[in-house]
Amino acid sequence: MKVVLAILYEGGQAAKEEPRLLGTVENKLGIAEWLTSQGHELIGKVSSSKEGPDSDFQKHIVDAEVLITTPFHPGYLTRDLIEKAKNLKLCITAGVGSDHIDLNAAVDHRIQVLEVSGSNVVSVAEHVVMSILLLVRNFVPAHEMIERGDWQVSDIARNAFDLEGKVVGTIGAGRIGYRVLQRLVPFDTKELLYYDYAPLPAAAAEAVKARRVEDLKAYLQCDVVTVNCPLHEGTRGLVNEELLKHFKKGAWLVNTARGAICDKDAVAAALKSGQLSGYSGNIIGDVWNVQPAPKDHVWRTVKNPLGGGNGMVPHYSGTTLDAQARYANGAKSILENYLLNKPQDPQNIIVGIGKYESKAYGQR
Ligand code: NAI
Repeated sequence: MKVVLAILYEGGQAAKEEPRLLGTVENKLGIAEWLTSQGHELIGKVSSSKEGPDSDFQKHIVDAEVLITTPFHPGYLTRDLIEKAKNLKLCITAGVGSDHIDLNAAVDHRIQVLEVSGSNVVSVAEHVVMSILLLVRNFVPAHEMIERGDWQVSDIARNAFDLEGKVVGTIGAGRIGYRVLQRLVPFDTKELLYYDYAPLPAAAAEAVKARRVEDLKAYLQCDVVTVNCPLHEGTRGLVNEELLKHFKKGAWLVNTARGAICDKDAVAAALKSGQLSGYSGNIIGDVWNVQPAPKDHVWRTVKNPLGGGNGMVPHYSGTTLDAQARYANGAKSILENYLLNKPQDPQNIIVGIGKYESKAYGQR
């Protein structure tokens, strides 16, 4: 009998009413009955309690052979915890993005880390395009004005633009970054740029007419920058005070990848000063490495000097009901392959036994 521990988010009333909210404690990724029928133990080991030594996460990790986590409510598997997790062999990320696991420690301890690659990349790409549009068109303050009962078109129009004719660049042109570029093609932007140490195949770049920029500071030319790379040693704090100085004045920044890729205070200061016109994304894994974000997190409310430019939401872009169906199925297949000793789909393996299998978590 294998012990499988799952740390998921609390679905509350919504999860009782909506069974398709699979990524919740209540609905257990849809795998509880199946797993029990296979003779393994999950019941009682699904929880949202993840912080501190008395949390279910830290109590049960000691026995678990398989850990299932989700980036939407990350159980932070630190090196210390890995050292206590003597039976742990496999970490499954139900979703995409395994930065909440100390991947270097997983390599050292020969623990495999797999995610459901591709499961929510369309969901995020759509969210990125939506966020770009709502910032550039100054949508949020316009809607707030309507709810307040006010009507002053000029206050909104003074900072509203078309996306057509703008330069848009993505940091990271993998599954999500490339899908963002594809979705932007019909907007007739002036240019689409990408920054990634892995160049796109020539035909893929040509299909979206994207130009690779090898110097990050050359992002100076961008009106809109979108961040679509994983969080790792090479990207933590990448968008900091120094880099922001090189942004075009009044640029819009959309980060649905990981919060900690951007320096929280530097982004807030740039928005307040007008160096950035807008910042949008999910508040994910911020500089204190906690999610949910604290109530007083500056990104919840910070605005540009004209009272707009904030498109922040909780971390939900990759957890639409469509995405949940895909990542729940994917997590189940990974688990099934493991239990039946069948080979895993290579694209899902981030850390194999004793080594990185993915090239996306930094150049090594
Ligand atoms: P992917 O592995 O297909 O692509 C990542 C790309 O980033 C690769 O091309 C890689 O070479 C590039 N990259 C890595 N380090 C870089 C650096 N220092 N500078 C520039 N490029 C770099 O991954 P995918 O599916 O596109 O996802 C990317 C990230 O998006 C995930 O790791 C995760 O953190 C985040 N994500 C967020 C979700 C959400 O709900 N908000 C859902 C899914 C993913």
